[in-house]
Amino acid sequence: MSTLSRAHGRLHMEGVDLAHLAEAVGTPTYVYSAGHMRSRYARLAEGFSGVDTRICYAVKANSNLSVLSLFAELGAGFDIVSGGELQRVLAIGADPSGVVFSGVGKRADEIDFALKAGIGCFNIESASELERIARQAHNLGTAAPVAVRVNPDIDAKTHPYISTGLKANKFGVPIDEAMALYRWAREQASLRIIGIDCHIGSQIVDTDPLLEALDALLALHDALTSDGIEIEHLDLGGGMGVAYQNEPDFDVQAYGRSVAQRLAGRDVAVHLEPGRYLTANAGVLLTRVEYLKRGAEKNFAIVDAAMNDLIRPALYQAWHDVLPVEEHDAAQERWEIVGPVCESGDFLASGRSLALKEGDLLAVASAGAYGFVQASSYNTRPKPAEVLVDDDAYRIVRRRETVRDIIALEQEALS
Ligand code: LLP
Repeated sequence: MSTLSRAHGRLHMEGVDLAHLAEAVGTPTYVYSAGHMRSRYARLAEGFSGVDTRICYAVKANSNLSVLSLFAELGAGFDIVSGGELQRVLAIGADPSGVVFSGVGKRADEIDFALKAGIGCFNIESASELERIARQAHNLGTAAPVAVRVNPDIDAKTHPYISTGLKANKFGVPIDEAMALYRWAREQASLRIIGIDCHIGSQIVDTDPLLEALDALLALHDALTSDGIEIEHLDLGGGMGVAYQNEPDFDVQAYGRSVAQRLAGRDVAVHLEPGRYLTANAGVLLTRVEYLKRGAEKNFAIVDAAMNDLIRPALYQAWHDVLPVEEHDAAQERWEIVGPVCESGDFLASGRSLALKEGDLLAVASAGAYGFVQASSYNTRPKPAEVLVDDDAYRIVRRRETVRDIIALEQEALS
């Protein structure tokens, strides 16, 4: 069954009527398709079937515990970037040895937490971090499994805020400095070298920059091997793009095939850290039109979701399709889809041709990745509920936040 379809003019996710769901759960609400996430995972696994691959789902894209459980059941490991994300994967009973820990700013307490949990690998982003991890592991009487995240200075040709593999970015170790780190690490009893890591950016639609990065990793792999340093895995990061508007869908088959060709003859496994590819098009944000406000220059549809619920349009000028949940015969007009937040940057979509009436329900598409996870309570707006659809059933997987939840931490401080 396809993720979104229309029956009798009404939008469905899998077998669930989204208007009924909105009636029952309220708006704004994030709704995710379990079927979509499973089929994306299967497609990626199939694309890489020629390679010994571990898919480490990037928790940051959508960290709902029920989403993490779904991927754990499919056999995924996880890519985390904080102690908080580690607590999430432990909360669903995932095996910590299948978890990789990325991020430029790992605190000592987070490193200790990960070491005690038995983390699979630390992806190291600087010489100072490598030293800190060696020290913390030494103090705990253990050896930390490490991979150096190299920055290959490759342009991922994506939005500058989500490009990470250029010299100008804060991420990784310049690739020509990596060898010295590996040689230093080899001498430390509290470090165990296991991999090489790289992640050049997100929403990459073409395989070329990713393969260029892989070639850089392979050259380093050769240099390490000749130096007697053994590597168990190459972590190629995430970054595989999705179609938001009319971009071609990222070709995982071609990517997987090219990776397999390049790895022929090498005894090394591959880790992938996909987030968006697995979840973006699994999700919609359901919102209701509160007011229609026609102006001299622009028409505004003021909806009950805002930039605090979905910040991607405001932050990255991102495009999200806006679909009417129930079709009717009002005239098509051009609309700015905006929220109630007191900022002119508060928009979900701009200049969309839609037939709208007050009270209509809209589905903001491709909202399953970097949607809810980036939500805030700005303007003291409770965060949306999250719902997981599976075939013709659905389940609330995070209850709607209440104002009581938001103010509780301050109320206890009132004198
Ligand atoms: N691995 C690392 C080390 C990362 O930094 C990221 C994403 C991923 C994996 C997953 O990348 P993906 O497969 O999802 O492209 N908030 C932005 C996206 C930020 C991505 C940050 N890092 C957005 O809404 O577009």
